[in-house]
Amino acid sequence: MRKMLVTGGAGFIGSNFVRHMRGAHPSDRVIVLDSLTYAGNLENLKGLEKDSGCLFIKGDICDQVLLDGIFDKEAVDTVVNFAAESHVDRSILGPRAFVETNVLGTLTLLECARKRWLSNAAKAKGNVFLHVSTDEVYGSLGPAGYFTEETPYQPNSPYAASKASSDHLVRAYFHTYGLPVVTTNCSNNYGPYQFPEKLIPLMIINALTGKPLPVYGDGLNVRDWLYVEDHCRAIDVVLEKGRLGETYNIGGRCEKRNIEIVNLVCATVDELLNADKTLAALYPLGKSRKELITFVKDRPGHDRRYAIDCGKIETELGWRALTAFDDGIRKTIKWYLSNEGWWKRVISGEYTKYYEVQYGNRANR
Ligand code: NAD
Ligand code: DAU
Repeated sequence: MRKMLVTGGAGFIGSNFVRHMRGAHPSDRVIVLDSLTYAGNLENLKGLEKDSGCLFIKGDICDQVLLDGIFDKEAVDTVVNFAAESHVDRSILGPRAFVETNVLGTLTLLECARKRWLSNAAKAKGNVFLHVSTDEVYGSLGPAGYFTEETPYQPNSPYAASKASSDHLVRAYFHTYGLPVVTTNCSNNYGPYQFPEKLIPLMIINALTGKPLPVYGDGLNVRDWLYVEDHCRAIDVVLEKGRLGETYNIGGRCEKRNIEIVNLVCATVDELLNADKTLAALYPLGKSRKELITFVKDRPGHDRRYAIDCGKIETELGWRALTAFDDGIRKTIKWYLSNEGWWKRVISGEYTKYYEVQYGNRANR
């Protein structure tokens, strides 16, 4: 029975991971630590309130005293660190919070684990500190080639630089102190509970509500997409079988240009609404969603292409992505259609201000 601290467990991937773990490993205890920033939402953990194997604590990963208390009281033996500022566009608007949480927060967690786990060798046996990172640390690819675990780091946005920095700290704690760490570098995720600042949920919600679909630049940037449940299974496998001190790339072998995705979202939304009169009446438009596509000013420093070689996790640990992109997109759109209350609450308040700053002056290209 593990006692697992899941930081950022009220965010998109973290909450999907908590659900996955409660289903797959019900005898483990999961302690969710999340400061509930704009991206954190207790509604993402709905249904788990009465689960005695799952505890939620509101708090910041930069708070050393709080972390020390949790490690002592809960005898934490496993950490899965999702907590982060995660949106590239916000990192361009204001990088400081990214350094605070992603760099200093990770450092604080590492220090806490080092003090607790390495003061007594027996305590460290079986412990794992899994740091959840991103493929963006590798920079941008040309039309060919893939990111492997050996690709040199070349982060291009403040977000990517802060994640790269935290990855280096994690690596240093293994080499210097022998802390039992492992890092995963994953490609773009999509699925239920994703905050609608990211491409796919933003396009789904704007398509439903008849707002413009803002495609940056020429729309030909490429990302490698992975359904969130596949990412959660990958982390589960790395926790169980990953070699300490190693890094594992995780990806969907699913490269798509942004414009292809937006077109697919439009076509799928049109099809689902056309097939259901009640839904069609809820989201009237009178034209194809594709007519909402608007090419807007590009993201500064926009990475052109990401593509992951995930051969290491496939051959070494036997993991592979299982959800085909068309199925994943369809499931995701259906989730947003069934959870209108969730996203309507999310897009009120702070989101409105962010949206205005991010898209208000982004005149058409
Ligand atoms: P998210 O923004 O949806 O969630 C982040 C969560 O962390 C939120 O619940 C937030 O409240 C919490 N948090 C932020 N600062 C905190 C702090 N100081 N203390 C405690 N909690 C804090 O992000 P996500 O998309 O779920 O990403 C989770 C992790 O996965 C991040 O580390 C991100 O870099 C990484 N990642 C994301 C993707 C992706 O496509 N979304 C891909 C690869 C890696
Ligand atoms: O690659 C993994 C990373 O994927 C994660 O580490 C990040 O946390 C996650 O946010 C994501 O970063 P991206 O910048 O790739 O994701 P985003 O959804 O913001 O954008 C995907 C692509 O779509 C990117 O090329 C920019 C483009 N885009 C995005 C938005 C929000 C648009 O064209 N219009 C938009 O409005």
